[in-house]
Amino acid sequence: MTGTTNTPGGGTRLRPATAQDADFLTEMLLAAFNWDRPRFTRDELLGTPHIAHYVTDWSRPGDFGVVAEDAAGSLVGAAWARVFPADDPGYGYVGPGVPELTLGVVPAYRGRGVGSALLDALVKAAIEQPVEGLSLSVEDGNAAVRLYMTRGFLAVGREGSSDTMLLDLAHAPAGRAGT
Ligand SMILES: CC(C)(COP(=O)(O)OP(=O)(O)OC[C@H]1O[C@@H](n2cnc3c(N)ncnc32)[C@H](O)[C@@H]1OP(=O)(O)O)[C@@H](O)C(=O)NCCC(=O)NCCS
Repeated sequence: MTGTTNTPGGGTRLRPATAQDADFLTEMLLAAFNWDRPRFTRDELLGTPHIAHYVTDWSRPGDFGVVAEDAAGSLVGAAWARVFPADDPGYGYVGPGVPELTLGVVPAYRGRGVGSALLDALVKAAIEQPVEGLSLSVEDGNAAVRLYMTRGFLAVGREGSSDTMLLDLAHAPAGRAGT
């Protein structure tokens, strides 16, 4: 993704995430970990290395992401991907060539198609990298799993009360890049 894109819901635009978006990505990481109830404060999250590493030093070589902003330029959602080494894996780790996805939309903008548009843009960016796939971890009960399934993510593992899901881009049918 090189420029800005209007989301289908209208009123919001997508653009590539930059180093200046690190604070907002942290906010969205917090939203993802607190998806059903408050579990962590921002300080607790940043003080927990195996959670903070989704945003530490954003952005590093190999990172890629997209943010959504409203008509006033306020950030309302983000999706990003980062590769983890085998000795410091994320919750959705499947392999060294597969970055892990994090996705979040601010509460006031949920249910308007922003999350879907962010995910589609991130998949497009993943194809352009290219990377072998995108993986993620989603906890039981999170409605986000339906969104992932509609985009072709499949459950490939189980960790505690979460599914590890993978979108396989190495063996994707021809034409996915056009979606
Ligand atoms: C998951 C999330 C990113 C979806 O973003 P969104 O902008 O609401 O998504 P969309 O409007 O494109 O809707 C896509 C799907 O998200 C889910 N969704 C929609 N509105 C939602 C809401 N208010 N709350 C939770 N999930 C919602 C639904 O499953 C929907 O699919 P459906 O219409 O087939 O039921 C957003 O709800 C969010 O930030 N949740 C908290 C953080 C989180 O759980 N992140 C994922 C961790 S794995």
